[in-house]
Amino acid sequence: MIREEDTAVLFYDLDHLASRIAYLRSCFPSTTLHGLAVKANPLLRILEFTLGLGSGAEAATIGEIAIALRAGYVPNQIVFDSPVKTLSDLRFAMERGVHLNCDNLEEVKRVNILLNEISTSSTFGIRINPQIGVGSILESSVAGEYSKFGVPINTQRKELENAFINYPWLTGVHLHVGSQGCAMEMLTEGVGILYDFMQEMNEKREANSEKRINIFDIGGGLPVSYSYHQEPLRMEDYVEALKARAPGLFESTGRRAQGTGLRAQGSGRRAQGAGRRAQSTGGTVEDLRRPGA
Ligand SMILES: Cc1ncc(COP(=O)(O)O)c(C=O)c1O
Repeated sequence: MIREEDTAVLFYDLDHLASRIAYLRSCFPSTTLHGLAVKANPLLRILEFTLGLGSGAEAATIGEIAIALRAGYVPNQIVFDSPVKTLSDLRFAMERGVHLNCDNLEEVKRVNILLNEISTSSTFGIRINPQIGVGSILESSVAGEYSKFGVPINTQRKELENAFINYPWLTGVHLHVGSQGCAMEMLTEGVGILYDFMQEMNEKREANSEKRINIFDIGGGLPVSYSYHQEPLRMEDYVEALKARAPGLFESTGRRAQGTGLRAQGSGRRAQGAGRRAQSTGGTVEDLRRPGA
């Protein structure tokens, strides 16, 4: 199984991975799609395993969409995020019907053009930068005053509002405040800022008898603890904070049809650990693995 050219053997504690994904799912409404970041584990067997655990897949490239589809994920379980989607990337994703988060207003215009050419079952959201500041790790903080990711909500508010008024097919909002180093309060307030915006836009869309924004993608980023001495943040505490700041995301009775499809993403970092049942996969260190994942 281990070939001559392999320079690394990766061990996965699948029991631990399974228990962490079950825990994550138990904290959110059952309708939530938990998109595991393929970039953290672009390994077919692992993706097949997490599919069996009821997760979704978050893809940052069309290569990651392809491997997720090959692992058996169906298109509406796949979320395509990337700040640099080419026209052929957009076409690839739309022809397969995956959910697509536009990263900027130019991309929204491109999708609008492609929608005249391609019949698609894709749903569409837009990444919004809540401009909420940076965490303790500058490199992985992506919601500062300036960020190369997403449409800045304060600086381009009018254009953003116009996009949701002019494009009824735009039915989702998405944010990702940062990975590691961003406090739970910061992640929660980022969600809150988009929630307030979504509520406001839904009033305007309903007034125009347009479809509500009904997909809310909270991204990832809840910090993990890398040391045994530091108590990890609890997902249920994060959910309680989100419920307090954005209650409509968790409403169920009577408003199901109008409820908002919640999506969460993460790299499954929390799912790693020493343990019992493990699987080794031959490979090279160039296996694109994320440090610490
Ligand atoms: C858009 C997006 N979603 C989710 C994630 C996963 O974040 P984390 O592993 O910090 O939860 C990332 C990480 O880079 C990301 O860029």
